[in-house]
Amino acid sequence: MKMAASMCMGVGLLLSKMRAPFLSFRRYKFKKKWAATLPKIPCSRLALQYFDMNYSVQFGELWPSIRISLLSEQKYGALVNNFSQKETIMQNLSVLNAKDFVPESQSALAESQQHIAMDTAEVKEPDGFSRDLVPQEHYMQHDVAQKQTAHLLSSLYNSKLTCCTFSRGDISRFPSARPDCFGHLEYYLMDAASLLPVLALDVQFDHHVLDLCSAPGGKTLAVLLTENCRHLTANDLSISRCKRLSRVLQSYIPRDLRTETQVCITSWDGRKWGELEGTTFDRVLVDVPCTTDRHSLLEEENNIFHRLRTKERQMLPLLQTELLVAGLLAVKPGGVVVYSTCSLSQLQNEYVVEQAVELAASEHGIHVEILDLSCFRELFKGTFNFSQDCRVGELVLPHLTANFGPMFFCKLHRRM
Ligand SMILES: C[S@@+](CC[C@H](N)C(=O)[O-])C[C@H]1O[C@@H](n2cnc3c(N)ncnc32)[C@H](O)[C@@H]1O
Repeated sequence: MKMAASMCMGVGLLLSKMRAPFLSFRRYKFKKKWAATLPKIPCSRLALQYFDMNYSVQFGELWPSIRISLLSEQKYGALVNNFSQKETIMQNLSVLNAKDFVPESQSALAESQQHIAMDTAEVKEPDGFSRDLVPQEHYMQHDVAQKQTAHLLSSLYNSKLTCCTFSRGDISRFPSARPDCFGHLEYYLMDAASLLPVLALDVQFDHHVLDLCSAPGGKTLAVLLTENCRHLTANDLSISRCKRLSRVLQSYIPRDLRTETQVCITSWDGRKWGELEGTTFDRVLVDVPCTTDRHSLLEEENNIFHRLRTKERQMLPLLQTELLVAGLLAVKPGGVVVYSTCSLSQLQNEYVVEQAVELAASEHGIHVEILDLSCFRELFKGTFNFSQDCRVGELVLPHLTANFGPMFFCKLHRRM
């Protein structure tokens, strides 16, 4: 090596000596220094240009309204800590005029159950035809969809999650959470739409749950607050973010509960999870790294639109697909995976889901069905503004009167 290096240096020296008489050093005066001469465009500006170009096509005339909302102050929800003094916290929040949006959906729930009943009646006698003339398959699909919706509604009804928001058009802010006498914080402030993937995950009693990309931990905390988890593995590639996650859990969950529920924090590359611990979990949450649209428009720090991160940004859909396939490998047959992003991009949302479902079947023989979550649109329309145009999954669109999201989530059921 040393010899090769000194040889190179020798040859270089020789060449420069040979060239020296013929070269004019003035040439170097005009050498462009890209880093210094290129105008420094802020990453947030680059993000806006990119979104304008892509989302104006994807959303058409809706884009200006989504755009102004993304650029305006975001709304938060207060995820109430069940392990603190919940009643007092709720009283304090109701004084502020904030309400729990999960039971708020109960009146919408009753309404949608009525719709289901009416739909059933319609299916029995469609267009005046007798039942024998309608393909059997049609009834079966309809029955399965209805059962899924009914199940989802009843688990929402029994949910222990409490997340308070201010009503539509009210842009009040929550005060920072205070510690109770045991040092546990009263609530966790988060984009309330982030709770929807956790509600869709539908964690049931005694479940083993994997949160594949879990830091800084808002959704992990929500999973624990369902009080259903028997075992939770919270994974994240970044060790420093895992430390942050650990601090979040310590600030909200009593130590004995953390050991009782067997919370295990790991820091693996999630793409390898299927190989590490396949067909193990009842539920897997795959909340992937994405263009974090709101953050990219408002913050310069850690912005994925930085010029040096272009490649990383372009590779996101591939990374997301690999993570989702790993999640599908990690879940047991019969289990559920929820995929989520905080991006509006179809490339990172619907396309990733479709691609991962295909790959899971062709490369791993795993058959997956995408479950219908349209009842979420009906149930939570009072709180969130949903897109009506997703091919798969649901997307919360930011709106000035309900400035949550973006949040895309899609529920996948592993059949075998
Ligand atoms: C959108 S954030 C997750 C947010 C988190 N679920 C929450 O609710 O607070 C995506 C996370 O994925 C992590 N990540 C990126 N690449 C990963 C990989 N290959 N395996 C596991 N985690 C990864 C990042 O470190 C980041 O913390």
